[in-house]
Amino acid sequence: MKISICGKGGSGKSAIVTLLAKGARDRGYQVLVVDSDESNLGLYRMLGFDTPPVPLMELAGGKKAVRRQMRSEFSRGQSEDKMSVLAQGSISTEDLSYPYIVQKDGIGLVSIGKILQSLEGCACPMGVLSREFLKKLRLKDKELTIVDMEAGVEHFGRGVETSIDNVLVVVEPSMESMTLAERINDLATGSGVSNTWAVLNKVSSDEMASKLRDELSKRGIAIVGAVHNDPEIFDACFEGRPLHGGKATEEIGEVLDFLLPGVKTGNEGRQEV
Ligand SMILES: Nc1ncnc2c1ncn2[C@@H]1O[C@H](COP(=O)(O)OP(=O)(O)OP(=O)(O)O)[C@@H](O)[C@H]1O
Ligand SMILES: [Mg+2]
Repeated sequence: MKISICGKGGSGKSAIVTLLAKGARDRGYQVLVVDSDESNLGLYRMLGFDTPPVPLMELAGGKKAVRRQMRSEFSRGQSEDKMSVLAQGSISTEDLSYPYIVQKDGIGLVSIGKILQSLEGCACPMGVLSREFLKKLRLKDKELTIVDMEAGVEHFGRGVETSIDNVLVVVEPSMESMTLAERINDLATGSGVSNTWAVLNKVSSDEMASKLRDELSKRGIAIVGAVHNDPEIFDACFEGRPLHGGKATEEIGEVLDFLLPGVKTGNEGRQEV
């Protein structure tokens, strides 16, 4: 199963990715986290790695090479969908090796690419590589891929979700975040994703959770869990150390109960918060 984690900037996507990855690993899944955010650099730290992986963009020959390939495919009149960025027709997790993947305790991390220099041009090649990599990635039983998306909705324009099974929108308590969740729900449907769910994050009271639930249900968005404001997460992010949620770890368990088939622990269905 491939799950992408989307939402407003700063809503807690990377924190939720980390909690989900660790929770799924603890349930016996081999987890591959795909860092598809070209701006932020710190996901590897949250996950507990000492160094980040070398981006797949370098394996693909760099942004210029990917751009050239985009142009040559266009000039032959082929649709963008038929483009092949990495050489292999399909990729399994065993095909990925260090330094393009870092691995520890049942969790692997790959990164698509980062914007490191000014004037290096637009980030379209990153979106193309994300889309192609995810499309070619073949998962075995008990393998789970979690994609940490860039903030906002541009990735939908680039078709990154084409091969994604579930979109999980992280919603923090703000109108902006809820409005964006509604757009993401629409865009995911337009991309052919059949399942879009919301997880609330940074909730400070049950009353707030209930208000958020009401607002999102008016927008036709189903909530599969709520993570409260967790000082452990805040401190870990502040200090740049591995993220070990306190209460959040239990709370994300309910999201995993819902998302992962066959490892449900009795709390089937959507969480009422
Ligand atoms: N459940 C939580 N409890 C307390 N603080 C949280 C929680 N989730 C996230 N945060 C805080 O929010 C900040 C942003 O979280 P995170 O980096 O996961 O967001 P993001 O959506 O990935 O951001 P970006 O859009 O920049 O990638 C963190 O630095 C942390 O301080
Ligand atoms: Mg992030």
